Amino acid sequence: MPCMQRSSTPVTGQQQWRRQVLPTLRGTILDIGAGSGVSAALLHPGVAWLALEPSPGRRLAAAVRSRPGSQLLTAPAERIPLEDASIDAVICSTVLCSVADPALTLTETIRVLRPGGVLVFYEHVAAAPGSTAHRIQRLASPLTRLLDHGCDPCRDTADMINRAGFSSVHLETLRINNVLGRLAPVIHGYAER
Ligand SMILES: C[S@@+](CC[C@H](N)C(=O)[O-])C[C@H]1O[C@@H](n2cnc3c(N)ncnc32)[C@H](O)[C@@H]1O
Repeated sequence: MPCMQRSSTPVTGQQQWRRQVLPTLRGTILDIGAGSGVSAALLHPGVAWLALEPSPGRRLAAAVRSRPGSQLLTAPAERIPLEDASIDAVICSTVLCSVADPALTLTETIRVLRPGGVLVFYEHVAAAPGSTAHRIQRLASPLTRLLDHGCDPCRDTADMINRAGFSSVHLETLRINNVLGRLAPVIHGYAER
């Protein structure tokens, strides 16, 4: 059974991406860096939601308790406490900017995905090298790393996903034509194991 349905509707922002992509996932879903658990409300009621978060707060714990069949995994993405090939879909929603080791996180993602399983992602990434936006990102990086869940705005996450070893990668860059859009370009898409 396919674990996600593709849509041709263009993605315009993170909320719309969540509404468009998350309800189409099926099976056992691993939500890496689940935060406060915002993804859970949009998942199909029949899926099993595994929320992985190294430092879960009360809101995430409550979201897990309120959803039958869900589980809280208190662990980092670099060491996912799950069997090989046990997961149908992995969600990375603005999390590869925050994890300590994104390459290892992607290796772990591929390990836990079953063959044919998918990673769905929505991530902000580094601006073009040499651009003003990139210089501002580099200046802001020490502050965002300190204050925003370890967030590093300068990561070339598209390149990391492309090189991680998925069998196929479908990736789009979102064009948001305002200051924030230029300072934090966004990629989204899916990658199949
Ligand atoms: C910007 S928040 C995104 C939360 C959520 N995914 C969303 O879409 O709203 C980044 C999350 O990554 C988590 N995080 C940071 N380092 C992590 C790691 N090594 N493994 C897993 N999650 C991590 C943070 O605790 C935080 O909840």
